[in-house]
Amino acid sequence: MDLSNRVAIVTGSGRGIGRAIALKLAEVGATVVVNDINEVAQGVAEEIRATGRQSLAALANVSSSEDVSKLVEITVSTYGKIDILVNNAGITRDKLLIRMSDEDWDEVININLKSVFLCTRAAVRYMTKQRWGRIISIASIVGLIGNPGQANYASAKAGVIGFTRTIAKEVASRGITVNAIAPGFIDTEMTQRLGESQRQELLKRIPLGYLGSPGDVAEAVAFLASEEARYITGQVINVDGGMAGA
Ligand SMILES: NC(=O)c1ccc[n+]([C@@H]2O[C@H](COP(=O)([O-])OP(=O)(O)OC[C@H]3O[C@@H](n4cnc5c(N)ncnc54)[C@H](O)[C@@H]3O)[C@@H](O)[C@H]2O)c1
Repeated sequence: MDLSNRVAIVTGSGRGIGRAIALKLAEVGATVVVNDINEVAQGVAEEIRATGRQSLAALANVSSSEDVSKLVEITVSTYGKIDILVNNAGITRDKLLIRMSDEDWDEVININLKSVFLCTRAAVRYMTKQRWGRIISIASIVGLIGNPGQANYASAKAGVIGFTRTIAKEVASRGITVNAIAPGFIDTEMTQRLGESQRQELLKRIPLGYLGSPGDVAEAVAFLASEEARYITGQVINVDGGMAGA
């Protein structure tokens, strides 16, 4: 895999899975715009520059249309183009349905799903002109199999999958591929909030018997971003230790 001369934006890449994706894309040669809603993005961009690759941190809330336009503009004005977009930013606000507020619903849908629409629309405008592009969105197996307490999150992630399959068909003739990754349970701050008993229960449901690492997701993203994956589009790849199929 060689992503030299490719320019990538990774949303929500100040920590966790996004950070691992940003570092992996840079390792295989890409210039990476590290986006996050807060300052953590700076540290990751510095880490990448220390390896000799180009990187800048771009603070933006990906659920804001205005912020997303600025994110894509700064990428294109600094590096001349955008080849790879990784829609990774996401949050959870878990509650059982009867306790879920309008705000819990709207916030999760906006940050996990509307952001994917906004970033993809903005990036595709540039990718269409160059007739090459890679859109990779981080969904979740929860969007495929459901999970109690996550009606908002599961709906958003199922939406990301429907969006992926649709846009793949819309932009295929422009040389742009659009795919999603559905991680299972990955060891990040998002899952570190689980209690010990919840964690033990969870492990019983994972055929491989352990939580994935952010790097496991990053490897799949790097492959989908590469030239070698040119004939794969509209797909959802589960990176879940066998959980969804079990
Ligand atoms: N951890 C898991 O087990 C797991 C499983 C399946 C899917 N995912 C998905 O993977 C992605 C990354 O998850 P993670 O575990 O690394 O989470 P995380 O909470 O560790 O990191 C998410 C990052 O997104 C940033 N972010 C949040 N809102 C943002 C916004 N509006 N604009 C820009 N950035 C924003 C956060 O600041 C944070 O740095 C998410 O889409 C998540 O839903 C995670």
